[in-house]
Amino acid sequence: MHAPRPLEVDPAFRDDVVAGLAAPIKAIPARWFYDRRGSELFEEITRLPEYYPTRTEMALLGRHAPEVGAMVGAGRAVVEFGSGSSAKTPLLLRRVAPSAYVPIDISGDFLRDAARELGAEFPGLPVLPVEADFTRPIRLPGAVAQAPKLGFFPGSTIGNLVPRTAVDLLRAMKDTLGEGSFLLIGMDRIKDVGVLLRAYDDAAGVTAEFNLNLLHRINRELDGDIPVDAFRHRAIWNDDKARIEMHLEATRDLRFGVDGRAFTMRRRETIHTENSHKYGDRDSRLLLRAAGWGVVKQWTDAGDQFAIVLAEAEAPRFAP
Ligand code: AVJ
Repeated sequence: MHAPRPLEVDPAFRDDVVAGLAAPIKAIPARWFYDRRGSELFEEITRLPEYYPTRTEMALLGRHAPEVGAMVGAGRAVVEFGSGSSAKTPLLLRRVAPSAYVPIDISGDFLRDAARELGAEFPGLPVLPVEADFTRPIRLPGAVAQAPKLGFFPGSTIGNLVPRTAVDLLRAMKDTLGEGSFLLIGMDRIKDVGVLLRAYDDAAGVTAEFNLNLLHRINRELDGDIPVDAFRHRAIWNDDKARIEMHLEATRDLRFGVDGRAFTMRRRETIHTENSHKYGDRDSRLLLRAAGWGVVKQWTDAGDQFAIVLAEAEAPRFAP
């Protein structure tokens, strides 16, 4: 029994998978987790008892959005990067008296749903969706060109990027939002390794299924014959780089085909599928500062598990 091949496969998915499997250290970018099934599994992850980030960030937003509103002032256009299906947005919008809401996402479907829901919840608020890849500077709708901006980047998605790329992204966001803008960003904290490992290798096996789903997606969309049951999910803490890594580990020597090409793996060899970087208080300030953002305030929960960070675009200056 085969699931039907999709009519259209993203050529970037094909390129990333083929290049990633041919590389001496195999790796596939984490963004490809999110096909329909992968997005469902991620939603399920956010409800797991071990996965603290989502509920901790929601609580922080609920608790501190009024103070964020007081600090940034009324009338800003709220620009959300990678808005997805976020339940977090209303917590912010309710407290910052925005002049407009601009969700940015690569997926037009998600965008239209989000725009419809937010529009219904906030009658009178102009919702101006932009379908774009937010890793590049974006031209915002003319209607918000003159408005002061508040960028919103929750979920600790920034953690997926290595610092060098994270800085590129944060700088692109600054270019998009412009002078005088603020950014509210969610960042996951460095913490007890056991807590971290359980969050990425839960008892119910949902994260394992999420990771392994990538192989099913490759088989389905790229005509692969990867023996998925010969792989196991691995989550490891890389202390040197302060990140959780997810890998798919071959449990025996393997050969398989993808997109007409042959690949081999040795037993215990892995495909690196995700990084999730964690940031201490100073780390988050340094990362943002490297991209031209000055941290105004960080709010964390009692256990210092997660932080929402408010930063302000720094004016360029000459001297030290
Ligand atoms: C969506 C990138 C924030 O890194 O915690 C959850 C993705 N991966 N469990 C994270 C994820 C495995 C998640 N982010």
